[in-house]
Amino acid sequence: MAEFERHVFVCTNERAAGHPRGCCSAKDSVSIHAALKTRCKREGLGARVRINKSGCLDQCEHGPMIVVYPDAVWYGFVRIDDIEEIVQTHLVGGDPVERLVLAAGCVNTARCPHHVCGA
Ligand code: FES
Repeated sequence: MAEFERHVFVCTNERAAGHPRGCCSAKDSVSIHAALKTRCKREGLGARVRINKSGCLDQCEHGPMIVVYPDAVWYGFVRIDDIEEIVQTHLVGGDPVERLVLAAGCVNTARCPHHVCGA
C-alpha cells in the first residue's frame, strides 16, 4: 500500500457550553469532517489522503479548525460550504485555499486578536 500524500485533521473537540474558548464541535466540525471524508472518497482520494478527527488543536477561537500535513496549512473558520474548494484546490490541485489559511499571527501566539487569554 502506498503512503498517504496528505493527512488532514479536523478538530472535533467538544467542550461544555459557555466555555470561554468555545469548541469546534459546537461550530459544526463533526459535519465538516463527515463531508470531507465523503467528498474525498467520491473524488477517489481515499488511498492518497487520510482524513481524521482530532482533539483540540489549540486554535479554538478560529474554529472550526482543519490542518493539512505535510503542508502544515492551518485552515480556520471553515464552513461546510468550503469543503468543495478545499478538496478541489488543495487536496486534488495541491494549492492551499488562501482565503481560509489562518494568518501567521494567529497560529500559536497569544498576540492573536482572537485569542482568549487565560482560558
Ligand atoms: S476546540 Fe478545536 S481547536 Fe480547540
